[in-house]
Amino acid sequence: MKTGELLNLLREEKRGYLSGEDLSNQLGVSRTAIWKHIHQLEESGYRIAAVPHLGYRLLEVPDLLLPDEIRSGLKTRLLGQRAVCFKETTSTNDRALELAASGAPEGTLVAAENQTQGRGRYQRSWLSKPNANLLFSLILRPPWTFEQIPMITLLLAVAMTRALHTQTGLPARIKWPNDILIQGAKVCGILTEMRTQADQINFLVCGIGVNVNTAPGGTLKNKAASLSSLLGKPVARLPLLQRILEEIEAAYMAARESGFGSVLEQWPRLSLTPLGTTLGLEIQGGEKIEGTAMGIDETGALLVRMETGITRRFSSGEIQIQSIKV
Ligand code: BTN
Repeated sequence: MKTGELLNLLREEKRGYLSGEDLSNQLGVSRTAIWKHIHQLEESGYRIAAVPHLGYRLLEVPDLLLPDEIRSGLKTRLLGQRAVCFKETTSTNDRALELAASGAPEGTLVAAENQTQGRGRYQRSWLSKPNANLLFSLILRPPWTFEQIPMITLLLAVAMTRALHTQTGLPARIKWPNDILIQGAKVCGILTEMRTQADQINFLVCGIGVNVNTAPGGTLKNKAASLSSLLGKPVARLPLLQRILEEIEAAYMAARESGFGSVLEQWPRLSLTPLGTTLGLEIQGGEKIEGTAMGIDETGALLVRMETGITRRFSSGEIQIQSIKV
């Protein structure tokens, strides 16, 4: 018997009690075994009432990233239906890369309550406190080529922005290519890593960090915030994670069926740099330039009109947005 099966029975009987005898009959194990599983659940943070002659009743589910809780009520077909959760690991991207290399199915979610070597783009580290935020990676196996990676990056940013906005009501915006900011402060970062064969994607690992209940200090230039600091109250992580998985799956399936049209259509509305915004940019190598935002092209590259009047296109590795003047 799996603890999950017991949990499902307790969930179904939320208002009443289930006797040890009923549980042991339904699950085909001894009452002592039931008691041991109940104890295990309590150790993981579930609150369960145990009343003599009545039995057990589920009182409270912890807001912890546990596979059964992630799956319970999750409306996806693929993403998160298989979940591997760690109390602590180096980086969920490390674990997801290993799992994907050894054949883990598409949609596998790897989540952690804490990372000891969380990493971000440009060799930066990603800092987070234990049990407070969302740190997870998704394994995808799209039938796409190497050139389509920038569009996947934008797809994830669009889906994340939609999920953060619908779940919290906060005005989340994308700082190209895939940082999510709210009121000028970063709340979410995305790091996509991949393995390729010839020009074909073998698999992708999409690592996502959301500052849900705490945010690292940040600098004046790179302000960070958490959803809870912006809302002034703690934010439950499980429903947020479920919403994120649902939004990413919807966008991913749509792109697999009919391309990236919907991402390109939504991007201008969700972008922090609408047409005409003045951008301070740093080109790889350190050169700083200024230009006017002209949107993105169909490959996901940023279009910038230079002072000379010429419009240049930049891919995400070539340039970073340093400042935005509306
Ligand atoms: C960035 O903004 O630079 C990207 C940050 C990505 C952080 C997430 S947290 C989960 C996953 N594991 C990691 O080590 N990094 C990503």
